[in-house]
Amino acid sequence: MLTLRYQNAMSSHVGRGGLTDRELASALKAAKPAVRSVLRSRAKLGFAALPYKENVLLKIEAFARRVRGRFRNLVQIGIGGSSLGAAALTGALLDRFHNERSTPRLYFLDNVDPEETAALFERIDPAETLFHVVTKSGETTETVAGFLVALERLHRKVKRPGAHLVVTTDRRKGFLRKFAEAEDLRTFEIPANVGGRFSVLSPVGLLPAAVAGIGIEEVAAGAILADELCSRRDPRENPAAMYAVISHLMDVRRGRPIHVMMPYARALKDAGDWFRQLWAESLGKRKGDGHVGPTPVVALGATDQHSQVQLYVEGPEDKLVTFVTLLRYRKDVFIPASVRDPAADFLHGKSFSDLIVAEQRGTEAALVAAQRPSLTLELTQVSPKTLGAFFFFFEMATVLAGRLYGVDPFDQPGVEAGKRAAFALLGREGHRERAAEVAGRLATDPRYVIR
Ligand code: PA5
Repeated sequence: MLTLRYQNAMSSHVGRGGLTDRELASALKAAKPAVRSVLRSRAKLGFAALPYKENVLLKIEAFARRVRGRFRNLVQIGIGGSSLGAAALTGALLDRFHNERSTPRLYFLDNVDPEETAALFERIDPAETLFHVVTKSGETTETVAGFLVALERLHRKVKRPGAHLVVTTDRRKGFLRKFAEAEDLRTFEIPANVGGRFSVLSPVGLLPAAVAGIGIEEVAAGAILADELCSRRDPRENPAAMYAVISHLMDVRRGRPIHVMMPYARALKDAGDWFRQLWAESLGKRKGDGHVGPTPVVALGATDQHSQVQLYVEGPEDKLVTFVTLLRYRKDVFIPASVRDPAADFLHGKSFSDLIVAEQRGTEAALVAAQRPSLTLELTQVSPKTLGAFFFFFEMATVLAGRLYGVDPFDQPGVEAGKRAAFALLGREGHRERAAEVAGRLATDPRYVIR
């Protein structure tokens, strides 16, 4: 279901760009205590318990059955971890043109871009819409703002706005929890020990998936299978540990801090964005007097071969590429012999899946020839099960990498700093006294302006 290949990260295959067997063996040995300690404290890893919460899955499914067919649109209002996982899951499992031909049409309001927000509310009829408002803290500015607009539009159009709202938030804390209780809204919970970017397998990601008809039990089953793989104590047998060790080593010892995820499936592009947040926000941290963390990048195969691969093959030797490949595609298209010409003849009788596989292999071979390391994560195909496994695998790899980097993968003080500065600029109570200080930092120096 999920296979990690790492030969192209080894010097035996990519020469000086790769790790020697000795180097890897010693890093794996050094990582053993970290892996064991993470596995020992597994019970405290909130995200790892999510796929086993059958009662929650049942509640989500019951809710989904109740609302399915009643709404033309489902709008998820949330940002960061409260949006990306849901978009990744549904983006992979619904077809790309889902909104053009099926309902509920799915929209993610994950920004405060005024044009996008206006366009969304012009596009949807609130009377035909279910809004899923998601915020762990219960008071993220972007989410609260989107929610306020949705609520006002509902008040204008429907008698019972509450019937169009479902809130997923912390059990106790935050404005949204207070509001939901006061208004008797339907709510789901993000467990206290599950952070935003680790919440895809909670109602944050599973609710929209279930409403859209995706088998969330299968998603959970896939995560449980990955859990079995990622719970192996020996890092040589544990794909999450191997991924974490190689990525960390490439960054801190080999000067390769740029970690590119390159899925060869349009369906997995949003999953790439989900990974980008997970890797960046969990590992990019201040550490003592210094700073650590890889820079994740997402590129889509084969499209970005014509945009990024030149840089990866010949640019600075600072990257580690992870290809995400599929053994089978869910659909295929055969290439007919519509025209005879040497530029087209070699394609006749082949399929698009032959093509994309050859393109991925070609890029991999070009990287090998240029002595650039890569990893390959192969999924049998895109399915609820493999998606569940994909999420769990990367969550576990991130926690393990956090240990290797010596940082807390679950906090995000840098994000909080920006949030507080924005509160000050927007005059939020308790923050407005810092407005002048924040504005002072942003003051324009005319010496450095060109008009
Ligand atoms: O991963 C995280 O913790 C963040 O990306 C949060 O999900 C994001 O900041 C939104 O926070 P909240 O869910 O509290 O609205």
